Amino acid sequence: MTHFLGIEELSASDLLAMLAESAACKAALEARSVPQRHGLIVNLFFEASTRTRVSFEVAARRLGLEVINWTTTGSSQEKGETLLDTAQNVAAMGPCAIVVRHPAAGAPWLLAQRLRCPIVNAGDGAHEHPSQALLDALTLQERLGSLHGKVVAIIGDITHSRVARSNVFALSKLGVRLRLCGPSSFLPSGIESLVPGGAITVHRVLDEALCGVDAVMALRIQRERLEGVGVPGLREYQRRFGLTAQKLARLAPGAVVLHPGPVNRGVEMTSEVADGAQSAVLAQVRNGVAVRMAILNRVLGRVPGGAP
Ligand code: NCD
Repeated sequence: MTHFLGIEELSASDLLAMLAESAACKAALEARSVPQRHGLIVNLFFEASTRTRVSFEVAARRLGLEVINWTTTGSSQEKGETLLDTAQNVAAMGPCAIVVRHPAAGAPWLLAQRLRCPIVNAGDGAHEHPSQALLDALTLQERLGSLHGKVVAIIGDITHSRVARSNVFALSKLGVRLRLCGPSSFLPSGIESLVPGGAITVHRVLDEALCGVDAVMALRIQRERLEGVGVPGLREYQRRFGLTAQKLARLAPGAVVLHPGPVNRGVEMTSEVADGAQSAVLAQVRNGVAVRMAILNRVLGRVPGGAP
């Protein structure tokens, strides 16, 4: 059975194949030539989501699949049902895949072991968000060409961000050099050794991290995962790590600005940056549909590009 759980376990050639498949899905979408077939996807979301949930739903519908959206509110979770019981009951209704988002790291792996149904990870705690990393890689590839040898800065709450972790795995496998930057409490010690080959450097000063990079990705402070962590005030954070039009002058010409959303305007970046010419924020969201089509095709064992 094929699952889609984390970037850490994929190889560079898996990633390149999935990016090619995402590009094929995007072309099929734009040509409106995606065939219609049946099957049911259940979105099992134990945490809030806008982009990820909607885009898995759009991707499934574009592939001719039916979709049921399940959220914790109004469910038997409120009556104390466990994750495994909920998922086993949903699986018993015969979906062809379950897309799961859960606050506990590892939850999708547990379901992959225990259920006889392909599992897609839509974000597990602070661990991985593999579909986000793939759509970020597709967006960067479209803007920058081959990613090999490019330099990307990731700014903000690296410690609690599953987006950062999946991107570190994905981009380093694709030959990107990474600069991770944020306040000390948001930079896990030893993060440089997360991937081999010296692909990561750590920075506490934004200007240093931004100098000459091909792309910068800003991250939201993960307030929901910050119990007991000393966090700088928002004003202080914005002053030290917020992206402004002046700061963008430090990037390489033609550099790209990314953010996985939701953006806290005036904190991670000003509106001028979020809506500016270098921002690829909405391109990321658009690419999310194609990438999630490719992921569903992969776990359902469908042929490339969604073609019959
Ligand atoms: C991210 C997430 O949920 O991890 N959002 C998303 O999926 N686009 C990032 C975030 O919430 O900060």
